[in-house]
Amino acid sequence: VRDGNGVKGMVDLGLSEVPEKYVQPPKERIDKLNAIIHDNPPIDLSKLDGPDHDLVVDEIARAAETLGFFQVANHGVPVDVLESLKDAANHFFGQPPEKKAAYRVGASPSPSVKYGTSFVPEKEKALEWKDYISMLYTTDAEAHEYWPKECKDVALEYLRTSMKMVRKLLKVLIGKLGVTLDDSNIDGLIGLKIVNMNFYPTCPNPELTVGVGRHSDMGVLTVLLQDGIGGLYVKMEEEIDGKRKGDWVEIPPVAGALVINVGDTLQILSNGRYKSAEHRVRTTSTKSRVSIPIFTIPKPTEKIGPLPQVVEGDGVARYREFVFQEYMNNFFSNAHDGKKSLDFAK
Ligand code: SIN
Ligand code: FE2
Repeated sequence: VRDGNGVKGMVDLGLSEVPEKYVQPPKERIDKLNAIIHDNPPIDLSKLDGPDHDLVVDEIARAAETLGFFQVANHGVPVDVLESLKDAANHFFGQPPEKKAAYRVGASPSPSVKYGTSFVPEKEKALEWKDYISMLYTTDAEAHEYWPKECKDVALEYLRTSMKMVRKLLKVLIGKLGVTLDDSNIDGLIGLKIVNMNFYPTCPNPELTVGVGRHSDMGVLTVLLQDGIGGLYVKMEEEIDGKRKGDWVEIPPVAGALVINVGDTLQILSNGRYKSAEHRVRTTSTKSRVSIPIFTIPKPTEKIGPLPQVVEGDGVARYREFVFQEYMNNFFSNAHDGKKSLDFAK
């Protein structure tokens, strides 16, 4: 089987069972039957501008401290943008293999745009059942020139409207730590933005594979749009609402909502108070799935470590200080392995 065309290329040729290299060891397989649904309603961000401001701030901070994942409504990204994004992703991945291959490393007209499959295939014991296109934002002009035409306009609009929300959320979360950041501090913390489009093809043996293996995200906050298929699971960091620590809960698709999650950088900045939770994605046999995350990441030159005011209050620094480029290099040179990425900061 040729796999240069991604998992989708392989599936399109007809496949009765998954090739050996996609078969996960038993402890990584996902037991769909025992799924617990995290059915908290999305947090209404429009209330940040009204009389319930303080309640909503508490709700956001509590979600970040416990599960590390929450959903938001009235987030400022128009509903038609959400719909167009899913269409654009399906359109991009539905193209013939050679169109997508034009964005492979080595072929791509820009280092900011990369089409690939799995995460770090050369390091993975079992590959992930996923194809993706990754678009690193530098300038609008660069995006207009190099991002795939099937997605660039809508991806830029998604990015523009999401970033307003991310800045708001970050002010809320950092503010709850008793620290005030000015706009230039925030610019440094989220100086890099990446829009990814993920495609999870149908899989003949979903019980043996993963769409994405257990990992935490590297950056500050991730914004995620998922379609209606479902399959995103998060490991509970704390006991909440009677659910046990260590259980895997599913973040169900909610029409019009976006998923927000805390990344390693925010866990480090908050000296461990906000949780960069481990998460993973299952595959299904009947329907393909798309998800479209935006990763907000510090500038590579930024010095990252626990915020001094928080360390002072806690009496101990739980992480060391480092230059973010080093963290990034480490993150992208290892296969997904739960929260191992955070060890780099210890
Ligand atoms: C990821 O965390 O890498 C993907 C999440 C998703 O597809 O829902
Ligand atoms: Fe992730």
